[in-house]
Amino acid sequence: MAQSSGRAGTGEPKERFDSPTFRGARGSFAYTAGKDVTGYYFDFRQPGAKQPVEGRRQLDYFVGSGSAARSYILNTGGFLYEAPVAYYRKSESWNFAPGVEIFNYPYLTRPIRPGCFLCHASRIQRISGTENAYASPPFLEGGVGCERCHGPGSDHLASGKPMVNPAKLPTMERDSICEQCHLSGEIRIAKPGKEDQPLPAGDRLMSLLTVFVRAGSPSELRVTSHVENLAQSECKRRSGEKLWCGTCHDPHTVPAASEKAAYYRDKCLSCHQTSSCTASQSSRQANNDSCIACHMPRNPTADIEHVVFTDHSIRRRPSRAPTPSATADLVPYFGGEPAARDLGLAYAIIGSREGNPTYTERAFRLLQQAAANSTADAQALAYLAQFYRDRKDDMRALTAYEQAWRMDSTQAPVAAALGAYRMQRGDYAGAIRFWDQALAINPALVLVRANLAEALLRTGKPDEARAALQKALEFNPAFQPPQDLVERLGR
Ligand code: HEC
Ligand code: HEC
Ligand code: HEC
Ligand code: HEC
Ligand code: HEC
Ligand code: HEC
Repeated sequence: MAQSSGRAGTGEPKERFDSPTFRGARGSFAYTAGKDVTGYYFDFRQPGAKQPVEGRRQLDYFVGSGSAARSYILNTGGFLYEAPVAYYRKSESWNFAPGVEIFNYPYLTRPIRPGCFLCHASRIQRISGTENAYASPPFLEGGVGCERCHGPGSDHLASGKPMVNPAKLPTMERDSICEQCHLSGEIRIAKPGKEDQPLPAGDRLMSLLTVFVRAGSPSELRVTSHVENLAQSECKRRSGEKLWCGTCHDPHTVPAASEKAAYYRDKCLSCHQTSSCTASQSSRQANNDSCIACHMPRNPTADIEHVVFTDHSIRRRPSRAPTPSATADLVPYFGGEPAARDLGLAYAIIGSREGNPTYTERAFRLLQQAAANSTADAQALAYLAQFYRDRKDDMRALTAYEQAWRMDSTQAPVAAALGAYRMQRGDYAGAIRFWDQALAINPALVLVRANLAEALLRTGKPDEARAALQKALEFNPAFQPPQDLVERLGR
């Protein structure tokens, strides 16, 4: 955990460059990773084209220790984006980062939001008012620092206040320490204004965010991370608070491969007897009497990030978990009645991610409810506005966008939409003002740049229009500006 992020090319290198080239299924671009004195980089190239689009980007930081995989971060003028290339340990090769293989151009515009660093790094330095700009360096400590589990060391030094010992906290607070990073659920919705905040050691995760899962009994829960998976086990269900992550794991060390079987057998035998196992002696001996070899097997999906490799449901005989219904209700993992705003956002985000109209419909109703009882924050209003816009209800959309902007002028989609409404009305100066603000929040909005170029041209600023298009190419090298715009610019 302590090695989960840092500057690319520093620390113990995990990467090999024997197999540095790969290409997309659609074949349009080839990518090659490399290193030189300045660090790691990757090249992209469109083979066969008359005027091939090509370029190079530096890989500034890594995320992930690389025990399975490693992601990288691009730094464009202080704004951070996830690199489209990643390194995979098992195959010892470079390939697409998860999810970007579907793009047939170099995808350089996936913003690194604070959540990513909240789980993989410590003491993050985000620049407020932006979506993804950070000071240099973006985090003062790579990986998971002591304070994330033990509370601030300064308290300890200054006042002699004892550091938090997670194992001695009440159950919910204890479990929250690991859950802040190891409980994904289907989605986590931060309370308004808490997106950036690490969990203070000793607090409950629920005070910071709501974790939503699809409804069903624990054994039906879809496993998205280790916490849900362990909750499915008979061991956890029958021993309750006595069993937690810390029963088997010491967060400060990882047992060596040769000691693993004995290390974990010891943990099992803190509750079970050697005789509790009903398997035959001979089969157990054949497996070196490794309890985990039979009861906690490793699944073979061993090449990606954010999957549970080791089956934490500790079954008698390993079996596959059922797949839940895609339209099952979303419910808070910790129970209770969720706020309309939180549940509405959860349905909205998963609904659009999965293209699930049932969820989107529920989101629309819940967010209307939240707006009606004044519990909608700017993020909720922005989604609600988008729903109105999708329904061509521009009057309500515009009202909601404006209300969202008054509450919080740091949401790029809101500024982009307000600019579009100004443009529609022929208010080019107003459009330019909003689009400039959107781009100050996140400069990689390529379509906003194209629209901005149009508005600049119409107000008699062809040089600025050209610069806006030029800048768009930095973020999407394969970007084709609208032909008529290019002609009017007389290039
Ligand atoms: C601030 C976030 C964070 C917290 C808090 C956290 N983890 Fe982790 N943990 C991670 C990340 C990220 C990884 C993956 C590291 C990697 O390979 O890059 C990880 C990996 C692990 C691993 C795999 C072995 C290793 O060390 O890489 C174990 C086991 C683990 N965590 C247990 C725990 C337990 C137990 C707790 C609670 C006491 C806990 N973690 C709290 C983020 C966290
Ligand atoms: C909610 C916490 C959380 C967030 C947010 C998160 N991760 Fe992770 N990540 C983890 C944990 C925990 C692990 C290790 C265990 C696992 O795979 O579940 C992990 C594993 C990984 C790994 C594999 C590391 C290895 O073991 O080799 C990579 C790569 C990675 N994450 C990249 C990212 C990137 C990039 C982002 C943001 C864009 C991100 N993660 C966001 C918690 C998180
Ligand atoms: C991922 C969470 C996590 C991180 C990070 C972490 N610890 Fe711990 N630490 C724990 C847990 C859990 C215990 C309790 C172990 C037990 O008693 O079973 C513990 C116990 C300790 C203890 C013994 C405390 C006592 O009262 O007996 C010390 C000392 C300690 N940690 C120091 C550190 C230092 C120094 C770092 C940073 C290098 C660090 N820890 C990082 C989770 C963490
Ligand atoms: C905190 C105590 C505790 C620990 C640690 C623990 N278990 Fe269990 N386990 C239980 C309890 C309680 C049950 C319920 C049935 C029983 O009493 O045997 C159980 C049940 C089981 C079952 C039966 C599951 C079923 O579907 O009926 C298996 C298999 C098992 N444990 C294996 C293990 C293994 C392997 C380990 C170590 C990796 C382990 N347990 C660690 C408490 C524990
Ligand atoms: C009954 C023992 C046990 C408990 C309890 C347990 N784990 Fe594990 N965990 C294991 C074993 C065994 C492995 C595999 C270790 C290996 O192969 O090196 C593992 C591996 C992991 C890994 C590495 C990735 C993977 O899937 O192999 C992470 C992360 C992890 N556990 C997190 C957690 C968290 C978080 C909790 C609490 C929700 C937890 N574990 C509770 C036994 C346990
Ligand atoms: C060779 C694989 C293997 C090994 C090694 C093994 N088990 Fe089992 N274990 C099984 C199988 C298979 C069953 C189920 C047998 C059955 O269905 O009757 C089982 C059943 C169990 C049960 C449930 C017994 C019941 O109440 O029905 C427990 C608890 C258990 N094992 C614990 C352990 C522990 C603890 C260890 C390590 C000391 C261990 N096992 C090692 C394969 C194994």
